[in-house]
Amino acid sequence: MISPKLYKSSRTYDFFMKFLGYESGIDRFLTGLKLDCADDCRILDVGCGTGLLGLHFLERYSQSSLQATDLEPNFLQATLDNATRRKIAHDRISVGVSNVSSPTQVTSLDGTLKTLSADSFDLICMGAVVGYADDTEHSVRELLHLVAPGGYLINIEMNESPTGKFVSHRYHYRNIPLQRMQQVVIDTGCEVSVSKLKLSHLPAKFTRTAIIARKPA
Ligand SMILES: C[S@@+](CC[C@H](N)C(=O)[O-])C[C@H]1O[C@@H](n2cnc3c(N)ncnc32)[C@H](O)[C@@H]1O
Repeated sequence: MISPKLYKSSRTYDFFMKFLGYESGIDRFLTGLKLDCADDCRILDVGCGTGLLGLHFLERYSQSSLQATDLEPNFLQATLDNATRRKIAHDRISVGVSNVSSPTQVTSLDGTLKTLSADSFDLICMGAVVGYADDTEHSVRELLHLVAPGGYLINIEMNESPTGKFVSHRYHYRNIPLQRMQQVVIDTGCEVSVSKLKLSHLPAKFTRTAIIARKPA
């Protein structure tokens, strides 16, 4: 488990993601990704934080819907606040508390528990969250189970550069090596590719690498 003090202030996190240019760097990276998704695709953002990944895809696919989950309710609120800022209608978004250790279990803010079904998302996105799972490999497998045939899991993961390792250590993030992550994806029968962030995606390039899995159609 993470320290209870980490990520308590979604406002501070949001401020730094914007102020340091992280959010726009990741946004530029995602814009450059060629994906074969329908306009009404179903999106899941796991450990959504301030919602930068899920909201990007909601803007890109005009009829899409988003299920955003996080361990901390204040981040779910930050995601909704950012949706308002980006003029994205809230009726396209469901938010719920979920631990990435059991990512299929989601408790909505009114306390209703639901279980996410297999094959029910066309696009799952996550960034710097699966390293907080009790068993990272198990969580990746569970998440791939939720991906519909032909769908994607995009993981904007902490990278293995000195800066990535330093930030991971600072935030108690324990990820499995990139190669192992790729193998876990391959073992589930999905295709996998790794995309390094470029200079144009600074400063996100310093700490993140994208692992993109696709389930066969
Ligand atoms: C480094 S932030 C990443 C936020 C966003 N996904 C991004 O790419 O910038 C990590 C997020 O994971 C959430 N988190 C931490 N531990 C978690 C857990 N066990 N289950 C689900 N979310 C968790 C934190 O609350 C925080 O919002």
